This record gives sequence, structure tokens and C-alpha cells, in this order.
Amino acid sequence: MKKIAIYPGSFDPVTFGHLDIIKRALKIFDGLIVSVFVHSTKKPMFTLEERVSMLRSALKGNKRVKIDCFNGLLVDYIKKKKINTVVRGLRAISDLEYEFQVSAANRTLYSDIETVFFMPRQRYSYLSSSVVRDISYFGGDVSKMVPPCVVKRIKKKRPDTNRDVFSLP
Ligand code: COA
Repeated sequence: MKKIAIYPGSFDPVTFGHLDIIKRALKIFDGLIVSVFVHSTKKPMFTLEERVSMLRSALKGNKRVKIDCFNGLLVDYIKKKKINTVVRGLRAISDLEYEFQVSAANRTLYSDIETVFFMPRQRYSYLSSSVVRDISYFGGDVSKMVPPCVVKRIKKKRPDTNRDVFSLP
């Protein structure tokens, strides 16, 4: 029987840190469904379709990974998919409290759920999608943080590279 897990997240946008988690998870699991979720409180930079499309490009050719999306509770999604194992990344000890809370909440809603954590390479431990969004907003170079398809998409999203720069007299 094949071992399949679900890797949910906002992926706004996907970073090298996420891709590193996927690579590590595929050492343990036969297949992975990477699923873009609608976050109830975050205001995204990219639409759900754009986030799915960037993940598809970044993981093109990897037959063991499927990309999907969902708007609802994670437990409802995993029940629908009949896959009880969820993959999450732990970048630093500061992630632990939040992840602990979410996985405990999910287990209260559905006791069969199991969450498996992977640590990304140390060089990605500082990386988050909001760091990428913030640097991109001001026209900075994010090519060491995200795959080329995301760099391209960011450039399309932000054509006005000549933003006003204010300086005090
Ligand atoms: N590399 C880079 N960044 C990483 C990372 C890694 N390995 N691991 C985590 N991150 C960053 C993400 O980039 C994101 O950054 P941002 O906040 O700056 O955008 C942040 O950590 C949060 O990660 P993400 O995986 O996107 O989690 P999330 O908290 O946005 O969403 C869901 C997690 C989608 C799984 C969760 O919200 C969910 O289950 N939603 C469905 C509703 C639900 O069931 N709620 C009940 C449970 S509380």
C-alpha cells in the first residue's frame, strides 16, 4: 500500500523552503498532495489560481506530487481525500507553538489525523512567504528565495518599478 500525505499551506508564494520540505517528505512518503488553502485571516498577494499555477511550474515533472486547493477546514479535506497524514515544516523553535496549537485543534476535530514535521535546511530557516512578499513589494531581488517561475510572476504582478521615493527635506 502506498504511503501518501497531504502538505497544506497558503503558499503565497511557494519558496525554496517549501520545496525543501517537499523533497524531504518524499524520502518518507511515496506521494504527496500539496494543497493550497484559503486562509481565513491572511490577505493574499496571489490568487488561489496563481498560487496553484506557481506550485505546478515549480514541481513540474515530479510524478509523485499532485497540486490541489481547498477552501474549508483541513480535517474536512483530509476526510474527503481519505488521507490522514499531514506534513508541516518546522523552521525554528518559534514555529512549534503555532504548529502544536493547530495540530492539537485538528486532532480535537478529527482524532485520526496525524501530523508529521520536517525541518528545512538551515539556510531556509529565516524564510517565509511574507519576507518574499515584502522584498518584492519594494522591488528587491528574491531569486535566492523562490524558484524562477515565482520570480517571473512577481515581476508581472509589479510592473511599476519606479515607485516614488520620499525623502525628508
Ligand atoms: N519555508 C518557507 N516558509 C515557510 C515554511 C518553509 N519550510 N514553513 C512555513 N513557512 C511560512 C509560510 O511561508 C507562511 O509565511 P507567511 O505567514 O509569511 O505567509 C507561514 O510560515 C505559515 O505557513 P503556512 O504553511 O502557509 O501556514 P498557514 O498558517 O498560512 O496555513 C493551514 C496553514 C492552511 C494548514 C491552516 O491555516 C489550515 O489548516 N487552514 C484551514 C482551516 C482550518 O482547518 N483551520 C483549523 C485549524 S486551526
